[in-house]
Amino acid sequence: MAIILGIESSCDDTSAAVIRDGVICSNVVAGQLVHKEYGGVVPELASRAHQQNIIPVVHQALKKAGISKEELSAVAFTRGPGLLGSLLVGTSFAKGFSTALDIPLIEVNHLHAHVLAHFIKEHAEDQSHPSFPFLCLLVSGGNSQIIKVDSYSKMEIVGQTIDDAAGEAFDKCAKVMGLPYPGGPIIDKLAKEGDADKFKFNKPRIDGYDYSFSGLKTSFLYFLRDEMKKDANFIEKNREDLSASLQKTIIEILMDKLRNAAEDTNIMEVAVAGGVSANSGLRAAFEEHAEQYGWKIHIPKFEYTTDNAAMVAVTGYYKYLEGEFSDKSVTPYARTSI
Ligand code: KG4
Repeated sequence: MAIILGIESSCDDTSAAVIRDGVICSNVVAGQLVHKEYGGVVPELASRAHQQNIIPVVHQALKKAGISKEELSAVAFTRGPGLLGSLLVGTSFAKGFSTALDIPLIEVNHLHAHVLAHFIKEHAEDQSHPSFPFLCLLVSGGNSQIIKVDSYSKMEIVGQTIDDAAGEAFDKCAKVMGLPYPGGPIIDKLAKEGDADKFKFNKPRIDGYDYSFSGLKTSFLYFLRDEMKKDANFIEKNREDLSASLQKTIIEILMDKLRNAAEDTNIMEVAVAGGVSANSGLRAAFEEHAEQYGWKIHIPKFEYTTDNAAMVAVTGYYKYLEGEFSDKSVTPYARTSI
């Protein structure tokens, strides 16, 4: 039996989770409200909040799981990518914990963890996970990638954004509309009340399976600026339709490339991961593709879409089975690929 404690502190969520033989026992996430008034994450404030949160969050995760720290087999932590100051808190805590308990330390790539979130079991008989190989659309505030997943450890980027991430496109366009950060979930909510065909925005023409979202953001900005010249209340009057049309465009951009990649690789098993996978329109587009193209789709539970330690713990579990442990001299990295 393997019981893994996972620790996630790459951005502005402090999270700890316990997984026993791949089955979730607890997943505690403490968000940080301190960033709200700044319209984005302030790195220095994030690392300070992680320092305050990490001990109570780990304590709660163990308590909820009904596990004592002496029962743990290993501690897994997010090594990167992310904000260096934030990562340092989780990394240092994990090192200290593994040293004190004399258990293995396991580093986890945050992007791998988002993909392997699909392997978190709700109960021992849970067989709903994808089978290899599968394609995973990883869409978050910092990433938009199509990943070919061959095994728990072998992943290859098939396509990725050459500029902004999909989450950034949601957030930046929301900001232009005067909505608070993060705008993605608000656009999603407003879009439900709007007409997605009211406005048309240009889609980028990029080769292969790569994405681009910076042009959409600029054309959205210029469109609003022109309309506001004619009617100063344009945004207010059209908030829902603008949200629905923008969301539709972002989803079409994402799904067009994903569909091409699925056709060309002949892989019909397709998953979605990362914060933007919480988007209801994107989830609906996945369902439609399952019906129309015979895809076997995998959509994570909401709690496993945004940053969480359950995905770190499950990734740590598979590394534990392979005996892939880290040295105590390991340091976090801000940037890395999958
Ligand atoms: O994976 P994640 O929690 O962390 C970062 O990469 O930072 O993703 C956060 C991103 C933000 O851009 C947020 O606006 C977006 O995910 N997001 C959404 C929704 N929920 C979160 N975007 C669109 N619709 C949503 N429902």
